[in-house]
Amino acid sequence: MTMIAPSVVCADLLNLKQEILLLQKAGADLFHIDVMDGCFVNNITFGFDYVKSLKKISKIPLFTHLMIVKPERYVERFIKAGSDLVTFHIEATGSPEAIIDRIHSLRKKVGVAYNPETEFVPKSFLKKADLILIMGVHPGFSHQKFIEAMLPKIKKAKEFTLRTDALLEVDGGVNRENAAMLREIGVDILVACGAIFDDKRYEENISALRG
Ligand code: DX5
Ligand code: ZN
Repeated sequence: MTMIAPSVVCADLLNLKQEILLLQKAGADLFHIDVMDGCFVNNITFGFDYVKSLKKISKIPLFTHLMIVKPERYVERFIKAGSDLVTFHIEATGSPEAIIDRIHSLRKKVGVAYNPETEFVPKSFLKKADLILIMGVHPGFSHQKFIEAMLPKIKKAKEFTLRTDALLEVDGGVNRENAAMLREIGVDILVACGAIFDDKRYEENISALRG
């Protein structure tokens, strides 16, 4: 079954605890935490303390999506803060394999993310990744339109993950309309912000995305 990951960047910060409890009750499978540094992307969001706070109340896994330059400098601290899986961008580092090994040495899981303009090249070190994330939009902001031209790349990544047992995640522009197609391709995790939070009907929206 497809897993649904609310991107908590859309949660009401003033009521964060209540939001987390409501999303869990509504059937969220994991929380997607967007970390942006104002450099790799043109926006700034959360740091370690936010992850630490979520960890205290979350009963479901925390998957942290690092949109930061040189992620190797910070992966360890995001793991110590409570991330169950940390995804970094392939464009942001010159040493992806070392990051994968480092995270595994800390006994946590690791994902590798691809921006829309980055080709998915099934390099051999990727066999060690636990998750491949294909962006459906240019990262930085929620509520953007899904780029349909990503579909062949998503299919190519699916063929790869079928051979390696990694999870395939799609993030950005996911909505009820395109979710069916993404599920059919075999996407394992659908991330959504706007499609879950906008009308506050968490349970209904999560079920609709799951199909
Ligand atoms: C985009 C972030 C996404 C974003 C998704 O830069 O990585 O996780 O919050 O938002 P929606 O689902 O509204 O496109
Ligand atoms: Zn994200």
